[in-house]
Amino acid sequence: MHQEERTTLRKILTSKWIKPPVFGLCLVPLAQLAWRALHNNLTANPIEYITHQTGDWTLIFIVLTLAVTPARKILRLPELIRFRRMLGLFAFFYGSLHFGTWIGLDKFFDWSDMLADVRKRTFITAGFTGFVLMLPLALTSTSGWIRRLGGKRWLALHRLIYVTAVAGVVHYYWLVKSDVRKPLFYGFLVSLLLAVRVVYWLVGRRSRAKASHPKLTAVETAPS
Ligand code: HEM
Repeated sequence: MHQEERTTLRKILTSKWIKPPVFGLCLVPLAQLAWRALHNNLTANPIEYITHQTGDWTLIFIVLTLAVTPARKILRLPELIRFRRMLGLFAFFYGSLHFGTWIGLDKFFDWSDMLADVRKRTFITAGFTGFVLMLPLALTSTSGWIRRLGGKRWLALHRLIYVTAVAGVVHYYWLVKSDVRKPLFYGFLVSLLLAVRVVYWLVGRRSRAKASHPKLTAVETAPS
């Protein structure tokens, strides 16, 4: 990316007008569902259709949230951080719709049947774990909570998003009967995003070690 293009992009990303259209874009999957519902066009099995759509979008928003930090570093666009919280909350929003569809439309609020499902059906156990772990993240997503917990503790807590992402992929992999290509693709994306973080962490650790042992580093890096 050229410097001029980056400057323009950075201006757009920091503009106060950019968040509402991004917010609107995140609502498109919901609008599409509502539109189909209004036109009686939710396929022959509406509950299954809603469950699948909301499940897919939960996972997509989880992946997008995880992609923000690597994208900021690789594209050198630190302003992208402005959208991480919104994307994370949309993951939670679609996750709640997905879970709510299961509770209300699939199980008709039959709590004992639900409990039995969570215990017995492994894919439900994985999905449930993923969703439950999203709750503390959504609750502590505000700047007030960052202050209250302190940056380090807040970051440590928010690493739960990785567990949610893995649980979401496992949930998907376990529920499909034959064609595992889509869950494997999501698995590949999540692994890639985690691997990028590990690389950044290792590079950061090395440069911190260099900074604390400048003499050793000078000997190490001297031309032989
Ligand atoms: C992080 C949380 C979760 C994620 C990312 C997630 C994701 C998904 C995905 C991607 C699908 C398949 C969509 C498709 O086929 O296109 C799905 C299906 C499904 N999910 Fe989830 N899910 C989560 C949590 C839950 C929870 C908490 C429940 C209920 C307890 C649940 C119940 C279901 C059911 C019943 C299906 C349909 C299964 C079938 O077709 O046989 N999910 N989910």
